[in-house]
Amino acid sequence: MRSKSKTSLALPSIPLLKKNPIRSNLVRSALFMAVVLLGLSCQKEKKKRMLNLPRTDMASENLIPKPLKIIATESAFALDQFTAIYTSENASGFEEVGNFLAEKIKWKTDLDLPVNALAKETQQGVIYINQSDSLEINAAEAYQLYITQDSVVLNSNTATGAFRGIQTLQQLIPDAGNDTLAAYKVWPIATGKITDSPSFEYRGSMLDVARHFFSVADVKKYIDLLAYYKYNILHLHLSDDQGWRIEIKSWPLLTEIGGSTEVGGEAGGFYTQEDYKEIVAYAAKHHITVVPEIDMPGHTNAASASYPILNGNGKKAELYEGTHVGFSTFDTRKDTVYAFIDDVVREISEMTPGPYFHIGGDESHVTKKNDYIYFVEKVSKIVKKHGKRMIGWDEVAQADIDSTSIAQFWSSRANAEKAVSKGMKVILSPAKKVYLDMQYDTLSKFGLHWAAYIPVDTAYVWTPEAYEGVPLKNILGLEAPLWSETISTIDELEYLAFPRAIGYSELSWTTKENRDWEGYKVRLANQAPYLDRMDVKYYPSPLIDWKKSKYTYKEIKKD
Ligand code: ACM
Repeated sequence: MRSKSKTSLALPSIPLLKKNPIRSNLVRSALFMAVVLLGLSCQKEKKKRMLNLPRTDMASENLIPKPLKIIATESAFALDQFTAIYTSENASGFEEVGNFLAEKIKWKTDLDLPVNALAKETQQGVIYINQSDSLEINAAEAYQLYITQDSVVLNSNTATGAFRGIQTLQQLIPDAGNDTLAAYKVWPIATGKITDSPSFEYRGSMLDVARHFFSVADVKKYIDLLAYYKYNILHLHLSDDQGWRIEIKSWPLLTEIGGSTEVGGEAGGFYTQEDYKEIVAYAAKHHITVVPEIDMPGHTNAASASYPILNGNGKKAELYEGTHVGFSTFDTRKDTVYAFIDDVVREISEMTPGPYFHIGGDESHVTKKNDYIYFVEKVSKIVKKHGKRMIGWDEVAQADIDSTSIAQFWSSRANAEKAVSKGMKVILSPAKKVYLDMQYDTLSKFGLHWAAYIPVDTAYVWTPEAYEGVPLKNILGLEAPLWSETISTIDELEYLAFPRAIGYSELSWTTKENRDWEGYKVRLANQAPYLDRMDVKYYPSPLIDWKKSKYTYKEIKKD
């Protein structure tokens, strides 16, 4: 596809030529001369300003996840009120990426940058976001960022790659503008060339909205933060013993009854289908895929309390607000159960553009083993029928499922090995390394510690590329789940997720040769101004020398 060329930027569009070729050519030439002259005087003014800009070093910028390759040229591009953004206009999604960047620059600097508007007379610096078929950047989500004193050029094969690239660009913009050198503020951006692409294609976090419900606004804020660190997956744990959180039109009692409770007796809640679509669309705008999970055949008390016909544990299912696991199961030998699952998978799949459907499958302790296997095999066919690729917690690898299914390795190495022997892909979510609900240490607020305490360094210093014998070729990626037994507000959610989720973004994007704790620690310390400005109540780990910012951080209190 064609990208906008630099020389055509300031010229009026072609229709002028059609009316009167001679007059139009004159007008065009005059305009061209005017633009050239203006350009020359702008260049002079700009050169003056550039001489005054501080030297910058792209290689020591605080980028997370760290890019694959950085070549610094130790100069600066002046982002200011005269900068404009241009994107390939015929390539799908590129203009939206340009608009997104303009929005974020406005948020950070208060500058209003035009996107694909005619060049302003005084415009002196340009950001181009180009669709490029270059082979050098043909990996999914790859991009190249080339920053000189005169321009910022971001090249990518896809809008998703461009979107990842503008996160890097956002991170390169200094926290504060420099207003001592000119009559107006300038944000000097380090010059150089970045070539980047992710190690793993699946880079996710899971939110448990079942144990405690989180509003659409909370989920959107989490998406904002994930996108900034180049995550591409949000897994929503939509059902569990304590609550059913997604409207299913053909089974309305699921939310009417099953959505009314949560851990600790609080109010519960659920997403209407419109809410869910809103989350999916918001995620898509951030180039994030939503993975919906309906956990079964265990973790199904809320569903069975809503429709007792589903229940298979031989007891009356009552609504439950505690935190025990492993006591519920669907009746795996009843046709109604599979008719129910077919409806649920169909309705959710119809609203989910992403390729995955997660069936849970963990901790079905009261389901007989042969019933469990029978169940997973039947449900895997239902998921396939509705056009989705099945993901399940690692227990599902015990069933006879094919290599298109994916196992999420959270606990059992033996199950992970079974998955590998079936040729399945594995998502790494080992509880002792990446469960965001594990406490940081004995003193930290919120969270549990049944798998481990996970301080910020433990979260970062391990090697997913060589984890417990899972061959690299089987690893689809990494996902950090956040279970919500002990948290019920966005502040509490953020306390557990941040800063560890930032480290997991680097583990899943950056090669192991490019990672080291000492360097990461410094880059992480410098995330504080962004987190504070986003009003993120991160855990201020004493292992990190957090950078002070003008945005005050207020630590949350546990009541
Ligand atoms: C899990 O933590 N039960 C997947």
